[in-house]
Amino acid sequence: MTGPLNNLEQLDEFVASRYDPSKAEDQFRDHSGAQPGVREFYRLNHIHQTRDFVLEKKRRYLGLDKTRMGIWEALEYLNTLVDDSDPDTDLSQIEHNLQTAEAIRRDGQPRWFVLAGLVHDLGKVLCLWGEPQWAVVGDTFPTGCAYSDKIVFHEFFRDNPDYGRPEYQSKLGIYEENGGLDKVDLSWGHDEYLYWAMRDYLPEPALYMIRYHSFYPGHQEGAYDYLMNAHDREMFDWVRKFNPYDLYSKAGEKVDVRNLRPYYEELIREYFPEKIRF
Ligand SMILES: [Fe+2]
Ligand SMILES: [Fe+2]
Repeated sequence: MTGPLNNLEQLDEFVASRYDPSKAEDQFRDHSGAQPGVREFYRLNHIHQTRDFVLEKKRRYLGLDKTRMGIWEALEYLNTLVDDSDPDTDLSQIEHNLQTAEAIRRDGQPRWFVLAGLVHDLGKVLCLWGEPQWAVVGDTFPTGCAYSDKIVFHEFFRDNPDYGRPEYQSKLGIYEENGGLDKVDLSWGHDEYLYWAMRDYLPEPALYMIRYHSFYPGHQEGAYDYLMNAHDREMFDWVRKFNPYDLYSKAGEKVDVRNLRPYYEELIREYFPEKIRF
């Protein structure tokens, strides 16, 4: 896997600590303690994610003509992503997805919500297809309009080529006020990709969770409200409901993948055909 992070977990930990509920208000935006790899990750992400880059990735991947896999098969495939040099902190991709789903299940949430937890990070298979870390994970943000200063490490945007294009640097840029997020090209990553793979199968709130779970500027910082419509705002309640399960289920008990598999295979069958397009 190419990129400055030793493993993707390093980034998850950074995000979780950023939104740690026990943190004092003024500590939230102090990222001086971030590991060098994390900082460099955001630098690469912010300078390379131009609008043209996003459109190019959409053309390449959203036709879903890469392969066909079942959901469990895709989880196992994602699990071949060996990205950790430190076995002590290793939580495999399948375990993170299962822990998220199990935490949702324990709270008695609807079955489609549990399923959203199970699949939410499947889009990280992009790493296995040669995409660099900064084009798969990390907070997402709109391209084609001004960067919000609520985006983590926003100072790195100065070196993004779009920063020099005035048509992309007004508040609304190429978008209409309250025109809806569906029309907005967010930076490219595992969220948008998986949304397209899932959109024929899951109910809308699940699709919002999948598509916007990394859009922290939107769902946690309240930025870009002027791009959202009333329906987005309503659906973002679900995105916010999902977020703690994603961020904080790691502390939960270890999951027994083999024992849980039959339950999840049945849940998968309820919503998905044998194989779907990726
Ligand atoms: Fe994710
Ligand atoms: Fe996740």
